[in-house]
Amino acid sequence: MAIFGNSVSETVSESETLADEVWVGLQATPKRLSSRYLYDDEGSRLFQAIMHLPEYYLTRAEFEILTTHKQSILNLFRVANRPFSLIELGAGDGLKTKVLLDYFWNEQAQFNYRPVDISGGALDDLTQSVRSGWPQLSVMPIQAEYVSALRQLAEDDDRPDNERRVVLFLGSNIGNFGPAEAVAFYKQLSAQLQPGDLLLTGFDLQKHPAIVHAAYNDSQGLTRAFNLNLLRRINRELDADFDLLAFDHYETYLPETGEARSYLVSREAQTVTIAALGLTVPFERGEWIYTEMSRKFTRAQIEVLATQTGFRVVGWFTDERGYFVDAVYEKV
Ligand code: AVJ
Repeated sequence: MAIFGNSVSETVSESETLADEVWVGLQATPKRLSSRYLYDDEGSRLFQAIMHLPEYYLTRAEFEILTTHKQSILNLFRVANRPFSLIELGAGDGLKTKVLLDYFWNEQAQFNYRPVDISGGALDDLTQSVRSGWPQLSVMPIQAEYVSALRQLAEDDDRPDNERRVVLFLGSNIGNFGPAEAVAFYKQLSAQLQPGDLLLTGFDLQKHPAIVHAAYNDSQGLTRAFNLNLLRRINRELDADFDLLAFDHYETYLPETGEARSYLVSREAQTVTIAALGLTVPFERGEWIYTEMSRKFTRAQIEVLATQTGFRVVGWFTDERGYFVDAVYEKV
């Protein structure tokens, strides 16, 4: 799954590699590491398991939304029988998307599917399984960063001129962005779309703080393992000597801002060596590394985000409990 990371500076500029990220983030005060590096093979596997946790309501809520509202969603996507291209950013295992693909196909919609991801492995698996499920559907995977994939598509001369672009950005991946980052990213997306094109985003909504907090602090300890895996990855890829038992997973949720944040906290004073970078990093007892933001939204914020970035809201689909929304924006 391709994710943009949290960054304290709230810009879209990103380190290009784990080495850069570690070099900058662990020498900063306070220490931080971007959540985009949580997804190596093991991290992706752990996230798949998180999606099945009883506390992690997000995936089930969005699955319910797509299942319940697929007909209304197709009605929005398919106007005047124009063909459309379904472009999915950060497709992952595509479990939720397949609900739509299956329904659209059965309704004889004219569309093609273009999953976008920076991870080639995930993209190959998804493409294979979609091709075997819907052999006649045109599937064109694009291995690229999100905005560059959209730019490639915008420059594609082959597309039929009446083809509408429909971008899917599911799963509350938007939550990893700070407010200014989200605006910058949506402006970039908007610039690659034509008036009438659509963007469907899955936003996690603000709710009882205890429910949000539990989703990132589960009783089985999977979220803890997911967060700590970042240190294991640094050990492996950068020849570091983090002692995973010497760090705790710590989660906070601040209702005022809707920000759930994850940290790794040093249980003791210690020094960590990152051999590949020739770097030693001192930790005080209780010192923390900020690793992930999972932001929760209000309806008002989702509406403002649209108008600030060249869109208007044309669809609003929630689950029964009102935990999550798939909002559809139209480029104006
Ligand atoms: C994949 C970014 C949507 O923030 O809810 C799950 C990642 N982190 N548990 C989220 C995650 C900890 C997830 N996103």
